Amino acid sequence: MSEQQQFDVVVIGGGPAGYHAAIRAAQLGLKTACVDAALGKDGQPALGGTCLRVGCIPSKALLDSSRQFWNMSHIFGEHGISFADQKIDVATMIGRKDKIVKQFTGGIAALFKANKITPFYGFGQLQPGNIVTVKQHDGSTVELKGTNVVLAAGSDSIELPFAKFDGKNIVDNVGALDFTAVPKTLGVIGAGVIGLELGSVWNRLGAKVTVFEALPDFLAAADKEVAKVAAREFKKQGLDIRLGTKVSKTEVKADGVHVTFNDGKSDQEMVVEKLLVCVGRRAATKGLLADGTGVKLDARGMIEVDDHCHTGVDGVWAIGDCVRGPMLAHKGFEEGIEVAELIAGLPGHVNYDTIPNVIYTEPEIAWVGKTEEQLKAEGIAYKAGSFPFAAVGRAVAMAEPIGFVKVLADAETDRILGMHLIGPNVSELVHEGVISMEFNGSADDLARICHAHPSLSEAVHDAAMAVDKRAIHKA
Ligand code: NAI
Repeated sequence: MSEQQQFDVVVIGGGPAGYHAAIRAAQLGLKTACVDAALGKDGQPALGGTCLRVGCIPSKALLDSSRQFWNMSHIFGEHGISFADQKIDVATMIGRKDKIVKQFTGGIAALFKANKITPFYGFGQLQPGNIVTVKQHDGSTVELKGTNVVLAAGSDSIELPFAKFDGKNIVDNVGALDFTAVPKTLGVIGAGVIGLELGSVWNRLGAKVTVFEALPDFLAAADKEVAKVAAREFKKQGLDIRLGTKVSKTEVKADGVHVTFNDGKSDQEMVVEKLLVCVGRRAATKGLLADGTGVKLDARGMIEVDDHCHTGVDGVWAIGDCVRGPMLAHKGFEEGIEVAELIAGLPGHVNYDTIPNVIYTEPEIAWVGKTEEQLKAEGIAYKAGSFPFAAVGRAVAMAEPIGFVKVLADAETDRILGMHLIGPNVSELVHEGVISMEFNGSADDLARICHAHPSLSEAVHDAAMAVDKRAIHKA
């Protein structure tokens, strides 16, 4: 082993949480290293984590390609645009996605260089005394000593014992981003974010998609009315979502994957060409901690931290998907910045109450804060105002009139407690709710802010006005 190298901060993991921590630490003048084991499709080290390589960014590239294709046959006609021939070349679509991934993973490497962060490509393990050993891809091992170590190891797909990933027929998100042709039939286990997003991609391109969801409720974490509209629209699009359905067995045979499931009434079997399993993710902490570090894992393998991502071991922090809280890239971003600032002696803070959730289906779904169901359960009196996109001129002109915005405000103080949206571009509009809540804004504040006409944001404005029953465009 080569001589030990000293750093102010050693970050294990170059995903959303880790690269934010590394760059912010370097900006603050700290000598920083970042360790990452991942390789890209070309076999070369690729920074950026699940998000850039096989998550947020590639899935959005495919969602956009498939959306254009779907619109050709479902929306363009309304505009009077027709085509003689509509085809999708899957290789070109996947190639475009890979190019975007390469651009962004390379972008992180360039940012590291510009910020004088030293990357180490290999598997990092925390040893007692804030030492990190890195088993590099060439087989050599280096030893790093950090005054501070930030653990940002991310998460892995959960595998079901009766549906093991084989990378070809039974896949996770990684495999479903790289099909070489549109499967005739696609089974999906889990109607969560990945199932709905990647199920939508292949459904729009012509696959017959069946989604098996164990829970009886659809999108249980979302607002009930949002979930109802989403279920209706997905059904119209041809997604066959089977709720309360448990898969017990899968078998790969010559004619496809045989899926045995029970819908609460009887055992049934369906044969699908490909099967996507997306039943959640778990912290990627296997092998991360050597004996005697003092860092604790909870029963689910997550690293235990306090409210400020400190592990309780002097100088050791943990952030992102490997700690409590939602497994979202942007939550990891903020924790990365928080920890770097705390290490540098600055105040660092994440407001977990205003983290937005977005599902990039068609229509898009987004929310921030509490749902009506949560407020009722907590006994908080609230007022609700909602407004449909069907009454928003811009949405109708765009031929996208589906969905609504709902604003929830405290019955007494009028403070905004939640915003729930389904419809066009709500992944952007939800930030009106995020900003309002961050500044402790009221529904009346939002209602009195001038919004451009015609714009989709008028739905937010009118929903805020509807909280006190004064929406102008609502009878
Ligand atoms: P998820 O937690 O969103 O959904 C998993 C679904 O699988 C749940 O509805 C659950 O009830 C169901 N399920 C669990 N076990 C099952 C079984 N044996 N049979 C049938 N259904 C079963 O997890 P998902 O979709 O795998 O996503 C993983 C993580 O990645 C999530 O934390 C998500 O937030 C994140 N992600 C976020 C995205 C975004 O923000 N747009 C996009 C993609 C992923």
